[in-house]
Amino acid sequence: MSQSYEKYLREVLIDTDTLQTRITELGQEISAAYADTENLLLICILKGGVMFLTDLMRSLTIPHTIDFMAISSYGTGVRESSGRVRIDMDLKQDVAGKHLLIVEDIIDSGHTLQYILNLLDTRDPASVRICTLLSKPSRRQVHIDVDFVGFEIPDKYVFGYGLDLDEHYRNLPFIAVCNTDALTGE
Ligand code: IMP
Ligand code: MG
Repeated sequence: MSQSYEKYLREVLIDTDTLQTRITELGQEISAAYADTENLLLICILKGGVMFLTDLMRSLTIPHTIDFMAISSYGTGVRESSGRVRIDMDLKQDVAGKHLLIVEDIIDSGHTLQYILNLLDTRDPASVRICTLLSKPSRRQVHIDVDFVGFEIPDKYVFGYGLDLDEHYRNLPFIAVCNTDALTGE
């Protein structure tokens, strides 16, 4: 992986201002939706959701707590999720009776979220909703009801703002489309 991300950048898909404006709006939508709710727990899906979580939290005006869960999905290659999903780190708490909002970076095939939803369902939460920064509807293999979506994006591999390219460049403050030609041979 190169020192600099520029080699892999095809275009900036969502710039910093656009991201931040939309996240502020999402914070307002979520704050309104949960205005009368006690015990709201944000569940951040690591690692990709971490930057989104921290910005989203700052735009919430309602009481909430946070917890983390790490999931890996693995398939035939970087881009293909086969539907096999594994839990690498579980929540630290019992979620029974709590209102859960899953905070995810991106929904692609939907397999990861389906796995998480099925798992959480066995733990008797009061409710479960989903907030994703990005969604690629054209890639969906399983239907997922998503309550809050930042941006619907085309079928392109993206990185930055929490999303990685081979574990790198999660720190970029914008969403970039990857020039996949630059990855060939690496
Ligand atoms: P799904 O199970 O196919 O919905 O995949 C979801 C996971 O794949 C996300 O949480 C990301 O970690 C990863 N992913 C999917 N598309 C992209 C992308 O364009 N860039 C970076 N990671 C992605
Ligand atoms: Mg993810």
